[in-house]
Amino acid sequence: MKVTLSVLKADIGSIGGHIVPSKALLDEVKNFVKEKAKDLIIDFYISHTGDDIAILCTHDRGVEDEKIHKLAWDTFLAGTEVAKKQGLYGAGQDLLKDSFSGNIKGMGPAVAEIEFDERPNEPFIFFAADKTDPGCYSLPFYLGFADPMYCSGLILSPKMSDGFTFRIIDVEHTENDKIIDLHSPEEIYDIAALLRDCERYVIESIYARGSGNQAASISTTRLHNIAGKYTGKDDPVALIRVQGEFPATGEILAPFQIGHLVAGFMRGSHNGPLMPCKLNATISYFDGPPVVTGAAFCVNNGKLTEPADVFDHPFWDYVRFQISKKAVDIRQQGFSGPAMLPYSELEYGGIVDKLEKLEKKFTYRD
Ligand code: F6R
Ligand code: MG
Ligand code: MG
Repeated sequence: MKVTLSVLKADIGSIGGHIVPSKALLDEVKNFVKEKAKDLIIDFYISHTGDDIAILCTHDRGVEDEKIHKLAWDTFLAGTEVAKKQGLYGAGQDLLKDSFSGNIKGMGPAVAEIEFDERPNEPFIFFAADKTDPGCYSLPFYLGFADPMYCSGLILSPKMSDGFTFRIIDVEHTENDKIIDLHSPEEIYDIAALLRDCERYVIESIYARGSGNQAASISTTRLHNIAGKYTGKDDPVALIRVQGEFPATGEILAPFQIGHLVAGFMRGSHNGPLMPCKLNATISYFDGPPVVTGAAFCVNNGKLTEPADVFDHPFWDYVRFQISKKAVDIRQQGFSGPAMLPYSELEYGGIVDKLEKLEKKFTYRD
């Protein structure tokens, strides 16, 4: 059977700052989807990562389906009403446009979707990150799909020996989608040359070269490119099909042990290590650290199992401990150098005014 996985997520308000949505808000989202989507979707799962709520659903309508996107938009609007009533902080903050016009992409919420012919055993992982941007997935998915140091299947499994194609998008180019397909292993230096720049070039999707089957879909929204000003970090979601011709679950998870430094953290303006956390994680230290959660599922005729929490294991307690040390290390240097993002990526305009004022006060020595 052909099935579509769609995940649509937005920050529509949270308790006590940009920390976690309220129970009433999550309940409203759950009930709204349950009520309104009866004839539209096969199954769904509602979760939050930090202050973001994600609607994961299965259906047979294909990607970028207007009705599915409208359902998510209407759900986020209904949730925003509850957030406003409760006085939640940042109510409706990711809903950047006034009216729905056929596709939720470019309106604020993040979207990742894959349509595929369901295998007899169809496992996948749904990742959600908070306090960071889509470039946070570049290193782990490059390593998980292209580097035998992390993905042993590239040398051990005949099903994976053809490698993978990376579709990379230039997110600075906003008039239309500017994309490039690069093939691993032959073009890994070119892939690395682009993915080096996490703020500009990000992985949009990945395909098995042998079959052409899609393995990955990643949301690539840059909120500041839509709004032209600070509106929160993009907090990306990703769907990764695993096992068989794709990397094993553990191969995809392995690179998250690095806790690599990503853009985001406090005011979306710093670098901090990405911490793999348990499902429904909250946010804390310095509005961070940037977090990623992973829910693994099997899907059968579009019906989802319950989620398995991929980072809920004693091993990841050790990793979280190490990454906490890394977070403290970089925070020790406050605003200095690489601790804070470069000028072009700072999410708050205040510094621009400040520097303009100071510029006028400079004097020139003869
Ligand atoms: C980062 C984030 C937070 C806020 C910070 C200030 O993406 O959402 O770190 O930037 O809490 O928030 P405001 O400007 O809403 O007071
Ligand atoms: Mg937020
Ligand atoms: Mg968020």
